[in-house]
Amino acid sequence: MTNSKRDGFGSRFGVLVAVAGSAIGLGNLWRFPYLVGNNGGAAFIFVYVLIVIFLCLPIMLSEFIIGRRSQANAIGAIKKLAPKSHGWLSIGIISVAAAFFILCFYSVVGGWTLEYMVKSFSPGFLVNDNSMLSTFFQSFTSSPVLPAIMMILYLALNALIVSSGVKNGIEKYSKILMPGLFILIIILAIRSLTLPGASEGINFLFNPDFSKLSPESLLAALGQAFFSLSLGMGCIITYGSYVEKKENLMNISIITAAADTSFAILAGVAIMPAVFAFGISPGEGPGLVFITLPQIFAQMPFGNIISFIFFTILLVAALTSSISMLEVVVAYFVEELKMSRKVATIISFSVIAVFGLLCSLSLGTLKEFTIFGKNIFDFFDYTTSNIMLPIGGLLIVIFVGWKMRKSDIQDELFNGGALHFRRRLFFWIIVGIKFLAPIAITLVLLNGIGLIKLF
Ligand code: TRP
Repeated sequence: MTNSKRDGFGSRFGVLVAVAGSAIGLGNLWRFPYLVGNNGGAAFIFVYVLIVIFLCLPIMLSEFIIGRRSQANAIGAIKKLAPKSHGWLSIGIISVAAAFFILCFYSVVGGWTLEYMVKSFSPGFLVNDNSMLSTFFQSFTSSPVLPAIMMILYLALNALIVSSGVKNGIEKYSKILMPGLFILIIILAIRSLTLPGASEGINFLFNPDFSKLSPESLLAALGQAFFSLSLGMGCIITYGSYVEKKENLMNISIITAAADTSFAILAGVAIMPAVFAFGISPGEGPGLVFITLPQIFAQMPFGNIISFIFFTILLVAALTSSISMLEVVVAYFVEELKMSRKVATIISFSVIAVFGLLCSLSLGTLKEFTIFGKNIFDFFDYTTSNIMLPIGGLLIVIFVGWKMRKSDIQDELFNGGALHFRRRLFFWIIVGIKFLAPIAITLVLLNGIGLIKLF
């Protein structure tokens, strides 16, 4: 390999915190708890865990294999591994485009998180009144200036980290932020568990009632697992390209999946007991974090401190995820368009800020402007999660399963013979990559765009 000059992760721990940092984000803290709430609790979690193990691990391994084999950004990787076939390049193009579009609305939510963090200490913000909190959320997110400023601040934090590079930026910050995140969420979980009436929430989370599980909730679990593990848009390809040859890709994947899933469950433990203790419906939906939680904090002693801790957690988790998306874009600019990292970051920052601004304004000033009946924010959100990610993921597993040489896959999984070759394990991984994952993703995709209605 001619990559001695290429930036990369400096340590095993560095790889783990960076990849886990990418996976653990708004998906775990905001989306997972409300999906669990909507889909009946423990049974949903049970199915979710099965999906992570049997479907997501093959996809994650495929991304790692492409990344480390090629030692390149998402587009460069495909160019290297399939030099003459232009069709496969669509994997890379979808990846970079999806990273770009997700970042636009993710940064808007990141900005809200910043605002709520600061707001935690302002008098009158934490009130025990659902409609007041809901009005505040509505009027804040639809106002033109403040959310835009917060979004740009949030994006600037991302740019600062990413412009410092992989080892001295992403890895360095993830090493501090991720352990801090685990400590914060554990504090919050303990606080929640010690509330009077918490046991009902625990029961909801861990005592499965399988009759509550509908075919739709099965699909919701699949989509959530996909989003939460950062799969389908070249994030893991890009991070994988920074992983040293001596690292064990299967271990990294398993540890990441385990960390992400335990974090999601911890988030559930931090939120659900409080929800039940204060008599709020667990199926409140997407407003759970920004409307319901402040109401809960308002009823707690030291509520503003707890609120501050929670939104700090949300900010940190979102940040280590969005830097992984920004890195997908920046790595492409640096390696394919031969820009310096600083210039690449500044350009990406500026373009994303403009589109992010449109997303932010589309919730207020520009809400009349719609694409296919959706405002810009919802359009970006819908198109990336429901169309681009599944197509990207599908192409990735098909590429590894049907296009790459078996011997190359084996080489990456067992480090060219440095790891003991386990034939059975290899066989099942190939089955997962070649058949199981592609079929499952196809079903989710077709269902998502309404071409088939499953069950
Ligand atoms: N996984 C992150 C979360 O849970 C979001 C994220 C980062 C993501 N990179 C991604 C989602 C790539 C899909 C694809 O918030």
